[in-house]
Amino acid sequence: MRRSFSTPQVDGNFAMSTPAPAFHRAIARSGRALTGIVRTPGDKSISHRSIIFGALAEGVTTISGLLEGADIMSTIGAMRAFDARVERRDVGVWEVTGTPTPVSPGVPVDCGNSGTGVRLVMGAVSAYPVTATFTGDASLTSRPMRRILDPLRRMGVTATSTADGRLPATITSNGRLSPLDYHSPRASAQVKSAILLAGLGATGTTTVHEPERSRDHTENMLRAFGISIKVDGLSVSVTGPAKLRAAHVHVPGDPSSAAFPMVAALITPGSDVIIENIMMNPTRTGLFETLTEMGAELRKFNFRISGGETVADIRVRHSELRGVTVPPERAPSMIDEYPVLAVASACAKGETVMNGIHELRVKESDRIAATASLLRCNGVEVRERDDGMTITGMKTVPGGGHVVIRHDHRIAMSALVLGLNARATVSIDDASMIATSFPNFFRVMQALGADMAAS
Ligand code: S3P
Repeated sequence: MRRSFSTPQVDGNFAMSTPAPAFHRAIARSGRALTGIVRTPGDKSISHRSIIFGALAEGVTTISGLLEGADIMSTIGAMRAFDARVERRDVGVWEVTGTPTPVSPGVPVDCGNSGTGVRLVMGAVSAYPVTATFTGDASLTSRPMRRILDPLRRMGVTATSTADGRLPATITSNGRLSPLDYHSPRASAQVKSAILLAGLGATGTTTVHEPERSRDHTENMLRAFGISIKVDGLSVSVTGPAKLRAAHVHVPGDPSSAAFPMVAALITPGSDVIIENIMMNPTRTGLFETLTEMGAELRKFNFRISGGETVADIRVRHSELRGVTVPPERAPSMIDEYPVLAVASACAKGETVMNGIHELRVKESDRIAATASLLRCNGVEVRERDDGMTITGMKTVPGGGHVVIRHDHRIAMSALVLGLNARATVSIDDASMIATSFPNFFRVMQALGADMAAS
């Protein structure tokens, strides 16, 4: 290893001080081994929640390590529209003064590209007497919202949307909702969170039952904001009416962002990289398990508690990967990682089978279709099914593809990572979406030695 392992070369959280340029095309090609130490940005799920909860809490919430990506900026804009004061004090350090009585925004609230932002805000403000219209970008306005609007209607919210249940949607609540006992058809933290947050404005106990456990950040953070919450197996309950109280939130590093330099190091010969400060919450680490089963050399160390979550550093070395069958019940703990897992699978020996991932069809893009086309245009064989795909790996992929990223940050980063182990340059049409979740992606990857550039 050429560089010392004492200080990270690049901290992926430095976003506002180093704004992402408004570029479009970007390329990646194979080159030297990746080496060094990096830190990925703050967790997106926890960052959204810290802003939303803080904006509705009594008192002043302080946040450190906030992800300053475009999605979070949309959520900050949304909560300001309801009259919360949200102010930046330093890099990643924010202060949120909650509004005890959110006002109805006079104009539509634009949640940009963020499904988490819009769904959680719709649920959270339903606990108050407000009327609000929500909209978003081309990707967000094509995503399904009935999964949130239908349970909110059952709680007493009046909600309208397009005929096929998409944005723009308008909700009106009188702030006195009925509690709900809801059996969710899918493991979705967005659905669970929206209903529980609305439940804070209901008189009585609201319970969400899930088929599998989805990420548990809402449960953990509601406790930190003074709410008593009951978890019983796959059922989570809150009893309202209940008020959030301001808290201090320290946001740990995002395992979903760490996945990109991690897979990059695994597939680039000679690589030896440390990624610091990665949240190890078991509802989020399915990818690390899967990569380990594929033969990845991942050494986790320096375990510590930070902001109520376990975090660790991970040393990743280039590894000869082999295909595996990913257990469908693991999907909720790695739901955002399938595109980059597909890239690792394309560079593994044998077939990797992924099933039970129909939800990927309604993410920022149809991620099964987008991932399949990302791989195919770079010469990788993929068999696509309604709820999954099978990828046939090879040592080095042909590459040479131009990937249309369909407004999807994770498709963009996955394509560029694939380029690091391709015979011909891989390009993408729009790198600007990467700022959604990983504003310093290029700087982090370049610091490790990746031949990647935006133009
Ligand atoms: C998230 C939940 C997941 C995930 C998304 C973030 C959250 O969505 O894909 O990126 O923070 O609650 P679903 O709830 O739709 O599974």
